[in-house]
Amino acid sequence: MAPGPDVPLLELRGIRAGYERVEALHGVDLSVPGGALVGILGPNGAGKSSTLKVIAGLLRPSSGTVLLEGHDVTGASPVQLARAGVCLIPEGRGIFPNLTVRENVLMDSYTGRSPADLEAIAYDRFPVLSKRRDQVAGTLSGGEQQMLSLSRALSTDPALILLDELSMGLAPLIVEQLFHIVRELTATGVTTVVVEQFADVVLDIADEVIVMAHGRVRLRGAPKAVRKELQAAYLGKTSH
Ligand SMILES: Nc1ncnc2c1ncn2[C@@H]1O[C@H](COP(=O)(O)OP(=O)(O)OP(=O)(O)O)[C@@H](O)[C@H]1O
Ligand SMILES: [Mg+2]
Repeated sequence: MAPGPDVPLLELRGIRAGYERVEALHGVDLSVPGGALVGILGPNGAGKSSTLKVIAGLLRPSSGTVLLEGHDVTGASPVQLARAGVCLIPEGRGIFPNLTVRENVLMDSYTGRSPADLEAIAYDRFPVLSKRRDQVAGTLSGGEQQMLSLSRALSTDPALILLDELSMGLAPLIVEQLFHIVRELTATGVTTVVVEQFADVVLDIADEVIVMAHGRVRLRGAPKAVRKELQAAYLGKTSH
């Protein structure tokens, strides 16, 4: 069953999806090689979160195909996809704000891991969480909350982590540190798709970047090339 070396971990082909009568994605193609860190950039309303929702099974495409390791998983439920190793960290962070850090960490016992194991996963990688284990998660700093959601994601042994706006509301230095951790995770074999409005840090760390606008992929390539194109487009606009 192991896919060949050329089969991407994730592939979207011609995905159209929307809400009620409004189509948000007008035929999105995307390919993510196993072990890669791929960034999706684009302005508000570009369809970045909708794309992640399709991958996680939260938004059903009206047409197109989603492939995971070459298997068609179009229309699979969020639970089925989670079992297959897809882990979405949504905008606004997937934590329980009224529970303590420790209680949040232990929520993932459904993974079959022991409490000691879950705590070790969280605190080994994020020692600051260990110091805050009895603090209510909603009172953590934004960066600490992101560490908590990342550590919860890790305890599910994910094949694919989808990170929606990790940087939201955080200082640039914290964002850099968090992305550094994400980069380390991909080095251990976890494939990651990060969505961000603001390009710079993603262009620094991603293996490949996709730029979306108005529900379509507008640009894709190596960060260096995409940065150049974005700069050219930006300069083009402001010089008129
Ligand atoms: N639940 C919803 N109901 C109706 N329309 C929605 C819903 N969620 C998103 N949309 C619409 O779909 C389009 C794409 O939204 P999406 O959230 O995917 O954009 P985004 O690129 O993530 O934007 P942002 O950077 O602001 O988070 C937008 O026009 C948005 O208004
Ligand atoms: Mg979004």
